[in-house]
Amino acid sequence: MDMEATKIVLDEQDMPRQWYNIQADLPTPIPPPLGSDGKPISPDDLASVFPMNIIEQEVSTERWITIPEPVREMLTLWRPSPLYRAKRLEAALGTPAKIYYKNEGVSPAGSHKPNTAIAQAYYNKEFGIRYLTTETGAGQWGSALAMSCKLVGIECKVFMVRISFDQKPFRKIMMKTWGAECIASPSPLTAVGRKILAEQPDTPGSLGIAISEAIEQAVEREDTRYALGSVLNHVMLHQTIIGLEAKKQFEKISRSPDIVIGCAGGGSNFAGISFPFIYDKIHGRDMRIIATEPEACPTLTRGPYIYDAGDVAKKTPLLAMHSLGHGFIPPAIHAGGLRYHGMAPLVSHVLKHNLIEATALPQTECYEAALLFAHTEGFIPAPETSHAIAQTIREAKQAREEGKEKVILMNWSGHGLMDLQGYDAFMSGRLEDYPLPDELLQQSLAAVRDHPKI
Ligand SMILES: Cc1ncc(COP(=O)(O)O)c(C=O)c1O
Repeated sequence: MDMEATKIVLDEQDMPRQWYNIQADLPTPIPPPLGSDGKPISPDDLASVFPMNIIEQEVSTERWITIPEPVREMLTLWRPSPLYRAKRLEAALGTPAKIYYKNEGVSPAGSHKPNTAIAQAYYNKEFGIRYLTTETGAGQWGSALAMSCKLVGIECKVFMVRISFDQKPFRKIMMKTWGAECIASPSPLTAVGRKILAEQPDTPGSLGIAISEAIEQAVEREDTRYALGSVLNHVMLHQTIIGLEAKKQFEKISRSPDIVIGCAGGGSNFAGISFPFIYDKIHGRDMRIIATEPEACPTLTRGPYIYDAGDVAKKTPLLAMHSLGHGFIPPAIHAGGLRYHGMAPLVSHVLKHNLIEATALPQTECYEAALLFAHTEGFIPAPETSHAIAQTIREAKQAREEGKEKVILMNWSGHGLMDLQGYDAFMSGRLEDYPLPDELLQQSLAAVRDHPKI
């Protein structure tokens, strides 16, 4: 076996001091968010939902944005995260490829989500906000925000998508342990929740519904704002610490990746690992950057690039993104964090500029990949992360066919220790693949036909 170290680690003082803002380097600016009148919104239009210090980051085009010292201090609870060389997985695949994975599962909540949760909780507290509301799919984001709110000293209320609420009881307890309230969505607490429950009492829920409920509650109170775990520009910005660290780690071993892979739900961990490398690609480096998604919720691969709302009740501005339609309720697959109808506008934009590729994968291939990973590397991945692993395995096999020593970097976005129901279902042969039927996609897209085109 290769003598290179298994873990490439950085000292705390080498943790990045600035986030990278890709908006400074895009070939064209991203299309602006639009209000319901079809005109670009102003920062003030977002003021009842987000604090102004976060809105300023959302629209900033400065390349480097300093990480506040108290945020850095909290991030050092688990950062810098280790970069692993997956030598045992390589050996099992018999590939000449060198596979590296950035382990974001080492955070207290178990995924990359605290990278932005800490920053968002901090900026809200600085702005004088006392309560944050949010949505959560798999529960990773809700628990990340619950922990972050507790660390900075504000209150947190989480609307958790019904299907995950039932599938992942321990996530609720984690949120409660960190002092947050966790409510199944749709809920009777909001007008939008009551309406949906009256129409579809047995709905599995969706991130689009949970976002509507969380925003509805945030705008009702002066001391309350809303936090989103993905999609928006400032979330992508905070996550770039992942790729910035990975670059330093590759410098330490005098290598750089030929292929970068991340799973994409709303796009944040993918953006986090890839944007600092896209900077190199924009400046001439030849590399492939791949976003992977479930074939049951194929936003980047089958959704049109249009203006659409980020939530079911259209409480958000219209965002320029790939979308399956804001009313789309994805099938109840186990990768709850990938069940989102839209995509980060920044990720959609870099796809449109061919700076990245996208693939859609069946869930059983992903679970098989997750098992092989657990059998070789030990760690049990989150079902979302398994999509990045499955694509990595495809690329490593391709390298074997071609006899090429490619360097592959994958973002290991989180552990699956709270997601074991899905593993149980897979190992007992109860999981099926679910390629999204075209009729369902067309039905959902019918509702957005009149939205502005890009
Ligand atoms: C472990 C993990 N990976 C990936 C995702 C997908 O989100 P994003 O695309 O914003 O990284 C989630 C979302 O909940 C998650 O929990």
